[in-house]
Amino acid sequence: MDAIEAIRTRRSVRKYLDKEVPKELLETIVDCGRLSATARNEQPWEFIVIVDKELKRKVAEQTDNGKFISEAGACIAVVCKDTKYYIEDGSAATQNILVSACALGLGSCWVAGDKKPYCASILKLLNVPETYRLVSLVAIGYPASIPSPHKRSLNEVLHWNSF
Ligand SMILES: Cc1cc2nc3c(=O)[nH]c(=O)nc-3n(C[C@H](O)[C@H](O)[C@H](O)COP(=O)(O)O)c2cc1C
Repeated sequence: MDAIEAIRTRRSVRKYLDKEVPKELLETIVDCGRLSATARNEQPWEFIVIVDKELKRKVAEQTDNGKFISEAGACIAVVCKDTKYYIEDGSAATQNILVSACALGLGSCWVAGDKKPYCASILKLLNVPETYRLVSLVAIGYPASIPSPHKRSLNEVLHWNSF
């Protein structure tokens, strides 16, 4: 699958098959995350791949809208040093993770993230140093079903030269 097709077909998956995700695929996905665009090339990110079932369940239960993380084969926590552009950098890395997972035939879903009250407890659970922020938790696994949410059309959002 090429990049355009992966970007066009990627959807947030919240139902997963009970099937392990091979370590090599998770490494490829993190490799795509760490190659993202990053302001001033700071690369403030670290990626924690959670495959331990009990730990994944504990992470899932801290969230409000991410309980399905416990059913996914893996969860990647994207954490960043508190730099000026950490949200943009961590978000760029998260999007690369979503797209690369899709290209590898996997489903994924971005679970917030920086503005959630559970950030501190998840960072603690994962032994992340206090100077880091949680940008996202990404559930990853083999999809049991793929939703098709409404998308605004290209005509509606594309403006040439002026709004
Ligand atoms: C910053 C951010 C936070 C999100 N947090 C959650 C979340 O906590 N739980 C969830 O199920 N989906 C979450 N999503 C996924 C969105 O709900 C999803 O991207 C949106 O509905 C569009 O659907 P699509 O990804 O299938 O195109 C989040 C997405 C973003 C970008």
